[in-house]
Amino acid sequence: MKIFSFIPIFALTVFISMLSLESCKNEKPAVLTVDSTKITPPAQATQSGSESKLTDKAKKGQLIYYNASLGKVKVACATCHSDGTSKTQDNLIRQGHSLAGVTGRSATWNGMYKGADLKKYAFGASFCATVFQYRADIKTIDKTFSADDIDALNEYLTAINSAPGAMTSNLKIQWVGKPTFSDAAPDPKVVTPSVKAIMKLPGDPASGEKVFNQSCGTCHTIKDKKIGPPMVKAAKDMNNVAQTVRFGSTAMAFYAKDILSDQQIADAIAYIQSAMGK
Ligand code: HEC
Ligand code: HEC
Repeated sequence: MKIFSFIPIFALTVFISMLSLESCKNEKPAVLTVDSTKITPPAQATQSGSESKLTDKAKKGQLIYYNASLGKVKVACATCHSDGTSKTQDNLIRQGHSLAGVTGRSATWNGMYKGADLKKYAFGASFCATVFQYRADIKTIDKTFSADDIDALNEYLTAINSAPGAMTSNLKIQWVGKPTFSDAAPDPKVVTPSVKAIMKLPGDPASGEKVFNQSCGTCHTIKDKKIGPPMVKAAKDMNNVAQTVRFGSTAMAFYAKDILSDQQIADAIAYIQSAMGK
């Protein structure tokens, strides 16, 4: 009986996820406890050496961390942040920095979270879940996660505090200008020179293919829709591609200067241009 009552919910979930991103931009639900019993951990998760040391609460936090279905945009924390463990040791270039050591930082998100807010918002994870995963509306950020889920995330972040590559001192996020976390356009006085600096560099498509596969490829392909739109649709104007990479575009996170250099972006653009023509 239980199984049958599950089917309509499943069908509804599939239907909702089929709706285009554009059409659901403005109707984000008020939130929701994560049901971690419904999340399948990544295949490697159970093999990691540190796994046995995790408390039940930290394990729940880990499941949230690897859950790509928290919000309307199907990316997990692990899509954008390494956790220092073997599970995220791959050759991907992630938009966010490693979260190993984050509980040792006294301010995060360039000072937006400090003091009691650090634990209250899981060191800024609530903000990411709101703006990048579309889990809630920015006005209801306090409801992005239940108190229990915040505790679980905090406990997982504490558990990875000394994982390889841990960084406990405060991160100065090297964004070129405050990114767009909403539909509002970023300041053209900041955007124009930074786009020009990228576009004046001659790009190398061969290096760009590597950059594309290690970073954009998680969410985009050239011709098909993945998590983000296909490049043939998204990349009508290469200036806009440069801008999107540096400043983000609603659900797409920005790439800070220490994550992708101007040259790497110019190379990726050269590759996209050549691949679109094929
Ligand atoms: C689409 C990519 C993306 C997703 C998904 C994402 N983040 Fe982030 N996150 C970022 C970026 C970019 C920053 C800016 C700072 C940086 O570069 O690490 C950031 C910052 C943070 C910070 C503050 C780091 C600091 O010291 O300033 C924390 C903590 C964090 N994210 C946790 C999470 C957690 C936990 C999740 C899952 C619930 C998550 N993030 C999902 C991209 C993402
Ligand atoms: C973690 C997932 C993710 C990664 C990685 C990512 N994107 Fe995106 N991208 C998205 C999403 C989601 C959108 C749609 C955002 C929106 O609704 O505006 C998008 C939109 C875009 C757009 C269209 C922006 C517009 O004006 O409509 C461009 C161009 C783009 N991405 C280029 C890139 C390039 C180039 C890279 C690699 C350097 C990259 N993206 C990496 C998720 C991602």
